[in-house]
Amino acid sequence: MYDKLKTISLMSIALFCLQATQSSGQVSRSSGAEVQYTADGADSCLRCHGVERMTTMAETAHGNANNPHAPYAQQGCESCHGPGSLHVSRARGGAGFPALIRFGDEATHDQQKTACLNCHAQDMGELEGMEWAGRLHDTPQVTCSTCHQVHSTENPLANREDQISTCAHCHEDEISNHQRFEQQGIVFDRLTCNDCHDVHQLTRRDEANASTR
Ligand code: HEC
Ligand code: HEC
Ligand code: HEC
Ligand code: HEC
Ligand code: HEC
Ligand code: HEC
Repeated sequence: MYDKLKTISLMSIALFCLQATQSSGQVSRSSGAEVQYTADGADSCLRCHGVERMTTMAETAHGNANNPHAPYAQQGCESCHGPGSLHVSRARGGAGFPALIRFGDEATHDQQKTACLNCHAQDMGELEGMEWAGRLHDTPQVTCSTCHQVHSTENPLANREDQISTCAHCHEDEISNHQRFEQQGIVFDRLTCNDCHDVHQLTRRDEANASTR
């Protein structure tokens, strides 16, 4: 008797699943090829993009699934690269892999900065949202990944030498001619640029003065 019940309920579960599959199939067919987030987070990407540079994301702040604000607690890789249902779909015959949000030279400036500011313009726990828009580094030459590396457990800005060489890509002359503030008793060579400049929220000196007066 008990076994029979179990069999019946298993059968109805199977039937339900079949219906669910069919109806979700219909939904995606009727709505055309609308791109969506995949349901499996990073796993749906790592089955192809499985090199260490990708798996290492799990060890970074973004891969911390215990932080509800982090990509791995939300859409995984797609939190930055955008919805990937079409990109992962092998059912598209020869249609290839539709582009996702990319970073670097091939991507538009707006797309790249929005991908990060979707989260980073907001307060996220301890981390305050940044006011990037309209600040001096908010120019077409500069995006977040000009200075930051996210597919790495190493922070290229934490170490003084590396930070200076990152800035030197664009500010070589200003660095070699920089005031050293010796009169003020400052040991310039021990400081990082970031100790004195908030590179995210730089304003022009005259604007900064105006707002403090
Ligand atoms: C079935 C294998 C497969 C899966 C699954 C897959 N990709 Fe891809 N991906 C590729 C291939 C192949 C390319 C290169 C396509 C090309 O250049 O035409 C690519 C290209 C990319 C690029 C562009 C790389 C560049 O050089 O700028 C990004 C970003 C990307 N994939 C992210 C993802 C993300 C995020 C996911 C998960 C949602 C994912 N991929 C899932 C196979 C896959
Ligand atoms: C926090 C945002 C973010 C997350 C999360 C993220 N990426 Fe990226 N991805 C980037 C940025 C920025 C670049 C540009 C290169 C860089 O800065 O390291 C990039 C580059 C890439 C590239 C181009 C090839 C390369 O080696 O640079 C691929 C492919 C890619 N990501 C796939 C993935 C996959 C797969 C995941 C999940 C395991 C993922 N990304 C998660 C931001 C992200
Ligand atoms: C889904 C939201 C989300 C997106 C999208 C996102 N981040 Fe983050 N980011 C976070 C959270 C959450 C933290 C961790 C904050 C903390 O430690 O409290 C973080 C931390 C960081 C840190 C500090 C890393 C560290 O080790 O402390 C940097 C740098 C950073 N993000 C850059 C980026 C860049 C660049 C992009 C776009 C390519 C991006 N983020 C996209 C949520 C996001
Ligand atoms: C001109 C270089 C530069 C650019 C561009 C840049 N950052 Fe930063 N960022 C830094 C430096 C320097 C630090 C401080 C050193 C560190 O924490 O590694 C930092 C720190 C951070 C942190 C950690 C902040 C904290 O309080 O712990 C986050 C998050 C971050 N940046 C996100 C972003 C995002 C998102 C963008 C794009 C909107 C961006 N950054 C653009 C240089 C830059
Ligand atoms: C990709 C190029 C690029 C990189 C890399 C870069 N900057 Fe900039 N920076 C700019 C641009 C463009 C401006 C805006 C210049 C303007 O409008 O006068 C700027 C402005 C500034 C200013 C204000 C200058 C002024 O005239 O008041 C400071 C300070 C500064 N950057 C510091 C840094 C630091 C520190 C780093 C490294 C953490 C850095 N920058 C990395 C391009 C860059
Ligand atoms: C001890 C604090 C301090 C440190 C460290 C510091 N700066 Fe500055 N920086 C200043 C001050 C103050 C000014 C504005 C006064 C001036 O023009 O000398 C300035 C001005 C600048 C300017 C604008 C120069 C111009 O000609 O208008 C740039 C660009 C700049 N700094 C980049 C950097 C970079 C890159 C680093 C790291 C190598 C760095 N700074 C380290 C305090 C500092």
